[in-house]
Amino acid sequence: MTELKNDRFLRALMRQPVDRTPVWMMRQAGRYLPEYRATREKAGDFLSLCKNTPLACEVTLQPLERFPLDAAILFSDILTIPDALGLGLYFETGEGPKFKHTIRSQSDVDAMPKIKAETDLDYVMNAVSTIRGALNGRVPLIGFSGSPWTLATYMVEGGSSKDFREAKKLMYGQPEVMHQLLDLLADAVVDYLNGQIKAGAQAVQIFDTWGGMLSGWAYEEFSLRYMKKIVDNLIRENDGRYVPVILFTKNGGQWLESIADSGADAVGLDWTTDIGEARSRIGDRVALQGNMDPTMLYAPKARIREEVADILRRYGAGSGHIFNLGHGITPDVDPEHAKAFIEAVVELSPEYHR
Ligand code: CP3
Repeated sequence: MTELKNDRFLRALMRQPVDRTPVWMMRQAGRYLPEYRATREKAGDFLSLCKNTPLACEVTLQPLERFPLDAAILFSDILTIPDALGLGLYFETGEGPKFKHTIRSQSDVDAMPKIKAETDLDYVMNAVSTIRGALNGRVPLIGFSGSPWTLATYMVEGGSSKDFREAKKLMYGQPEVMHQLLDLLADAVVDYLNGQIKAGAQAVQIFDTWGGMLSGWAYEEFSLRYMKKIVDNLIRENDGRYVPVILFTKNGGQWLESIADSGADAVGLDWTTDIGEARSRIGDRVALQGNMDPTMLYAPKARIREEVADILRRYGAGSGHIFNLGHGITPDVDPEHAKAFIEAVVELSPEYHR
């Protein structure tokens, strides 16, 4: 067991005192970094990069070499589970993820194989343990998964969607089939995240990218309920330390109270919710992660710094804030602007922790 040299991310997730606000970025290892593009070139396509243990480890560490980040996140994708379930994931340049097969009926659900993360997704577990070793205690490693609802949208639609009409057709028209799919996915996610925790993940994040496309009751019934099932069944210990869970529902600001009651330790916020108001709504039930608009990174560096100052001021004094973007960093951001963002958090946040 290597000693963790920087634990402010884990401490802030548990609302314990820190010297400054920790910071990391969703999609911090990605196309905005020229060194990422070079490594991906070597690997071939994106999926081959995810499956290549040394190269997946290399790209995970790249942003840490450039910026004073407080966490690393496993380099992989949320769509590895549907791929292991036999749907045939592929990426067409500029078009996002696609599946060869879709799930739209009872018989499609019944035909899916039973999977075990440790064998069927062994490349992810290998990446986790390799990255954890390479980090050597520098910062904690975050594991992740998609939420059942978000995974189901891709599996039913066969890829990305604007209006989710096929997923919603199934949800409203044959709710029992959708529930069966979501329940099966919740079990697969539990197995997958527990595998990552056993392999060395020190915190986990559930990405519910499309939960915010649902009405309030449907969010409770088709998304939050299954995320609760996951949270209830996770292993919460690694190397003698508590493993916190972050739940990120994009566009979920209106349901903060129920998300905060899910059993998760932290709630991820996109930029459409004021972080100060969010804090007063949920009190000290959970930590908050977020929430600068990622497109703010196109602004001049001085403007980025002002925005960081404003978000820190809105959250206010005390622990429980993990600075992040409100969603993933975009591929055409200048890495120098990402650096200005992270340095602003490092420089401006200590005054809130005296
Ligand atoms: O945050 C990180 O640095 C960790 C890596 C990570 C990736 N995907 C790498 C990636 C994480 C956490 C994800 C999660 C993910 N993947 C989500 C949920 C997060 C979110 O954004 O809300 C979703 C919806 C996906 C599905 C997916 N994978 C999409 C929509 C895309 C983009 C397709 C495109 O061409 O824009 C991917 C591909 C992907 N995942 C890339 C990376 C770095 C780009 C692949 C490349 O071309 O190199």
